[in-house]
Amino acid sequence: MVSQNTLGHLRGLRLVGVVTSGSRASVVPVRVSRDSIDFVRDEMLALIEDVEENKLYLGVVKGSVKRDIAIDGSSLPTNFDPERSLSYTAPLMTCYVEVIGEIADGSLELNFSIPRPGGRVYIITQDFDIAMLLKVPEGLHVGFHKFSGMRVSLDPRSLDYHVAVLGATGTGKSRLVKALVEEALARTDYKVIVFDHTGLDYSDPSRWGGNVNIVDGSRVALTPDVIAVVLADRMGLASEQQRDYIFLAVTLYIARSTLAGSMGRSSLASSEYAFKRLLENLDLEGMIEGYFKLSRSGSFKWDFNEFLEVLDYCLTLMNAWSSTRVKFKLLSHVRVGRRFFENYLNGRSVIVGDVVEDILSGKSRLTIVDLSREVEYEAKKFIVYQFLKEVWDKVLESRGRAGVLAVVDEAHNYACARGCEPSSGIIARIAREGRKWGFGLILASQRVIDLAPEVRGNINTVFFSRVQSASDYDELKRWIEGLQFIEYTLPLLARREFYLAGLGNPFRKPLLVRVRDVS
Ligand SMILES: Nc1ncnc2c1ncn2[C@@H]1O[C@H](COP(=O)(O)OP(=O)(O)OP(=O)(O)O)[C@@H](O)[C@H]1O
Ligand SMILES: [Mg+2]
Repeated sequence: MVSQNTLGHLRGLRLVGVVTSGSRASVVPVRVSRDSIDFVRDEMLALIEDVEENKLYLGVVKGSVKRDIAIDGSSLPTNFDPERSLSYTAPLMTCYVEVIGEIADGSLELNFSIPRPGGRVYIITQDFDIAMLLKVPEGLHVGFHKFSGMRVSLDPRSLDYHVAVLGATGTGKSRLVKALVEEALARTDYKVIVFDHTGLDYSDPSRWGGNVNIVDGSRVALTPDVIAVVLADRMGLASEQQRDYIFLAVTLYIARSTLAGSMGRSSLASSEYAFKRLLENLDLEGMIEGYFKLSRSGSFKWDFNEFLEVLDYCLTLMNAWSSTRVKFKLLSHVRVGRRFFENYLNGRSVIVGDVVEDILSGKSRLTIVDLSREVEYEAKKFIVYQFLKEVWDKVLESRGRAGVLAVVDEAHNYACARGCEPSSGIIARIAREGRKWGFGLILASQRVIDLAPEVRGNINTVFFSRVQSASDYDELKRWIEGLQFIEYTLPLLARREFYLAGLGNPFRKPLLVRVRDVS
């Protein structure tokens, strides 16, 4: 004889219905009792008690529908009067419980057994102490299950396998990312570098209790290739050949300055001499190091007129037409100008290698690169690239676990399929191989397609909220398993509500989380 109402006496559990015919190990149809019709909601946590087999399952309510046989369109009498409809009705409600697993000895196990029709279905409310039944895994505390209030924590081991945070604007992505960073700092030994695209979300030190190294992106010394790209873009040069002239001029300018420095001279080496050395035996790594050294101390000077001279020298050397020389001169004045050299290029004394050294040595556990003050859009991508590449190279060199987490918010600017080079290339590489070295990524963006497929394909944990459009939902479905039931729930999500899916989710099935308070 089965004992009656075995779980029903527990505080905070509400008996809402029974398992009906057609039950499967993963999806269980439920008939909701009449008094619970207005209580049961999709995404509630449910317990299924199979009293016959003495088994207990945990699951999530999905696909609930209310029906009414009496006022079913096909069975309505022709003289049906809507004002008196209440007297006709015979409501009923069905739903599914998507089974997460079987609860056995306080832990959650994959089940192949099928909950029996007739089994009881309970909803877990806020008053229920789930610890009575289940040891909820601890980890990075990001929030609580929306209806049951159960604490949801991300498995920290999943950080090496990368995390994406996706949702329409204002859904609370940046706050969630901040929660993840706070938790990683407090509960793991990861060192974190955050790229703050807007400067609004992470770059205020008071939001971190002061314990943070904020790097002003507009003070980061740019490598010659970056300067060449920014200059050529500004001048509107499209042809490879013309862009090469700029490349040469920038390299030559830096060679002249560093050669002068190495010879102990204050004036620049001549262009002729520098060019000869460039072609013959100049140690380019040494040149870049010299350039960084001068930049670090603030003694590298970009001078507009000097640069124009070097540029013209290069054009002459490459047998450019006179008209090209004039065109370059004009474009330099009109589209670039003195201020670009004196204000934009000068005063860049932050050396990426120095910052990365402080990160990897553990000297600064949280580094924020504020990219909002970097005015050149192209340069932002290069700065992200420079940092990530430097970390990557150092990690490969040491061949040990790096324990680094790189956070890219507004990732559509840096990790997209087209137009995000060179940052997207290094991000794809880290996504693919970073886990070997304990180098994890957290990428936040508004749309799924903002992340290049080769990046997306290697992200194993995803938080997603309301999406921008139906095509985003299709992309999500293609990417993440087990989303067949959420089509009608997703558009209803409020701010701060995210589904957690993938490796970091200790419950294996997407779970609706309300993110904890993040200031
Ligand atoms: N966990 C939270 N704790 C407290 N407030 C929150 C939380 N999540 C969101 N908010 C509120 O919602 C606002 C928007 O959140 P947030 O800036 O994180 O959204 P977003 O998705 O990053 O938006 P955008 O796409 O525009 O960058 C915040 O300014 C804050 O007021
Ligand atoms: Mg944001």
